[in-house]
Amino acid sequence: MSPALRERDVDTRELMDDPHADARMLARTYGRFGLVNALVSRPGTLYRRDIRPRVARSRPLRILDVGAGGGDLCRMLAGRLRRDGLEAEITALDVDERAIRWASAHDRGAGIRYRRALTTELVAEGETYDVVLSNHVLHHLDDAELRVVLDDSLRLLAPGGLVTHRDIARSRGAHALFAAATWPLSGTVLADSFIREDGLISIRRSYTVAELRTIAPNGWTVRGGVPSRLELRWEGHHARP
Ligand SMILES: C[S@@+](CC[C@H](N)C(=O)[O-])C[C@H]1O[C@@H](n2cnc3c(N)ncnc32)[C@H](O)[C@@H]1O
Repeated sequence: MSPALRERDVDTRELMDDPHADARMLARTYGRFGLVNALVSRPGTLYRRDIRPRVARSRPLRILDVGAGGGDLCRMLAGRLRRDGLEAEITALDVDERAIRWASAHDRGAGIRYRRALTTELVAEGETYDVVLSNHVLHHLDDAELRVVLDDSLRLLAPGGLVTHRDIARSRGAHALFAAATWPLSGTVLADSFIREDGLISIRRSYTVAELRTIAPNGWTVRGGVPSRLELRWEGHHARP
């Protein structure tokens, strides 16, 4: 791995996390997350493997998306569940008021609940969910924040539930591929957004599968995936620490 990618670059922050970020570029960034996720996050697999099989006919499935950003994953899940005639209550949580404002303004009838809050606030309120998930959030967190999000994920989990935190896996190949694939689009589809620059920073901030395995608390499993993906997962049948 090149020197710049050998370790997590936690000192470089994503431009979207700057409280003074250009509002128009930030809005375009939220609006482009759906395209990025369709290409790299395999949302269909998440739905088929982890969401649909958990829906009980007796009551709606409760899903929490931590760090929902523009809310595209929630809208996609809501759309698929509705198409399959399955009921769910989906909460899109984000610490950033700007994300929550943008996502709720673009709900498009999906019926998502939007909350500007930290997971800790939901724990204090006694909320529980059948599935707690996140996508592209782990790399935003420092070690202490990661511990809090993982502990809270378990406290928020209903018996038999699933936690799945999905993210990019840092690698030289992922960095080179993302740089090459987004360069021709930087003047068109990705223009006036932070997608290209923040995507490259995100890869530099991300964990490798091996790193995450060494810090994951007991009971969590870490899996690698394609293209340059990782998943930190907890299945409800494990005994809690
Ligand atoms: C790169 S965006 C990913 C958005 C969305 N999940 C997606 O896949 O497109 C990361 C989001 O996580 C949010 N975030 C970061 N730390 C968080 C935390 N501790 N709790 C909740 N949201 C957080 C940020 O505000 C940002 O909107």
